[in-house]
Amino acid sequence: MSGDSASGLARGLTQYGDSGFALYLRRSFARSMGYSSALLARPTVGICHAASDLNNCHRHFPELIEAVKRGVLAAGGLPLAFPTISLGEVFLHPTSLMYRNLMAMDVEEMCRAQPLDAVVLVGGCDKTVPAQLMGAASADVPAIQLVAGPMMSARHEGERLGACTDCRRFWARFRAGEVDAAALERVEARLATTAGTCAVMGTASTMACIAEALGMLVPGTAAVPAVHADRLRAAEETGRTAVTLAASRLSPSRIITRESVENALTVLLAIGGSTNAVIHLAAIAGRVGVRLSLAQLNELSDATPVLVDLKPTGSHYMEDFFAAGGMSAVLHELKPLLHLECLTVTGETLGERLAEPVQWVDRAVIRSFGEPFQSVGGLVALFGTLAPNGAILKRSAASADLFERSGRAVVFASPSDLATRIDDPSLDVRPDDFLVMQNSGPTSGHGMPESGYLPIPGKLARAGVKDMVRISDARMSGTAYGTVVLHVSPEAALGGPLALVRNGDRIRLSARERRIDLEVDSGELARRKAQWRPPPRPARGYQRLYAEHVLQAEEGCDFDFLRLPTTNPEAAR
Ligand code: FES
Repeated sequence: MSGDSASGLARGLTQYGDSGFALYLRRSFARSMGYSSALLARPTVGICHAASDLNNCHRHFPELIEAVKRGVLAAGGLPLAFPTISLGEVFLHPTSLMYRNLMAMDVEEMCRAQPLDAVVLVGGCDKTVPAQLMGAASADVPAIQLVAGPMMSARHEGERLGACTDCRRFWARFRAGEVDAAALERVEARLATTAGTCAVMGTASTMACIAEALGMLVPGTAAVPAVHADRLRAAEETGRTAVTLAASRLSPSRIITRESVENALTVLLAIGGSTNAVIHLAAIAGRVGVRLSLAQLNELSDATPVLVDLKPTGSHYMEDFFAAGGMSAVLHELKPLLHLECLTVTGETLGERLAEPVQWVDRAVIRSFGEPFQSVGGLVALFGTLAPNGAILKRSAASADLFERSGRAVVFASPSDLATRIDDPSLDVRPDDFLVMQNSGPTSGHGMPESGYLPIPGKLARAGVKDMVRISDARMSGTAYGTVVLHVSPEAALGGPLALVRNGDRIRLSARERRIDLEVDSGELARRKAQWRPPPRPARGYQRLYAEHVLQAEEGCDFDFLRLPTTNPEAAR
């Protein structure tokens, strides 16, 4: 058999014009790997993984993959591991985000092209989980996500350290002259000391929690530390569950729905999660025809308290979150806000999963709904004359005393201009100015870098200034903090209003009103727009494909040709 009714190795045969021959050839080549015919007759479970020597966060994947295989074999399946490209966050130029869509295409095509009854997606570092979920959603092969799990924190002179909120904190102290180069080098060796993803609620951990909220993980596994024995048990259980998925044919399009996306957005707000996750969730939702709108984000943000006290919003690390009760505790607190009818990879609904109360919760880390860590959600979208299509502010990690004010713009034309001039002693900048960076958006050629967390100018940092309003079309690492307005859309490289800001212009920020406005009259803006020229486009290759097809931040920076038509157009407000 071949085609949709086929299973195992008979699925999706190579076309030679003779399906019997194609299966005979495939089985004979599979036998060359030493499998018995009994094993080759089993349901096939692909283990689609992103192990790489250029991805430190995934260095334990060989062990994890072995544990998945154990689970698959024990449940009667045939595990078949295969690599895709990997995205080690700090090893990629210009940015990992630029290659997320490439990895998603790799995942989608390999999950669809190979004879797989179900797929285990093994990822972790920031962009890998969204890429895997995007690809699996498009392929719509029964799939389950297994995440790397977070690193453990380390110690430095009596203090706990964890990548990478503390990386930024120590670098800021170095820039301010509070820490010398020798101390900085000692800290460098102690920031990331185990396998796993960043130790705080950065993008990787946010995406792990979101994947669990969507229903794509074995329940309770998002936050298990990478080096904990429970992580291996989670891998084994994931393998077992994949075999049941192969039989039930429960595919991502039945799990990732409008309602489960809203659940994921609620969780994102309640965990004070990464701003990057807004982009990734929009991209994942777009693969199943669900539109995530920034207006919806604001509505949910006003109704959803931040429940967890975790860095960069609070003070704890991911290992504390796991020990405190993890995602099960968070989901129980959020129950009144969630769509409990959503299906999960186990075949249970979310409501069935949450039927039993949690045994114990450490309220120092995971607060109750009635006594939250912060009373409103961690993220808000801003709109206004500077960002007609929206921008994002992570208010939970920002300075509230900077939320309602206007300031003088100090403009940098690009990330390289910023790097050249930010520490220039002659830079005309004051603590109450707004730092503005242009040309860092999706089509800028810079790959929307995480440079939206502009450094405090050297002379102000040395004078003790810790935070300023910073505005750009760039992103910010999920481990960063500060009063940082990101993802301004339309971006400067498309001629959005951000491109027209000049030194000395006044900009008004109001987090309360959800506004970010450029206070320059329309005639002057029209004159500036007439003089504006777009940046050159890359000449060839993937970078050209990217520049020509990438969508803006509010649409998830996916490619226009990979999204499905929207099934909930009313969300597009
Ligand atoms: Fe991989 Fe932070 S660098 S998760």
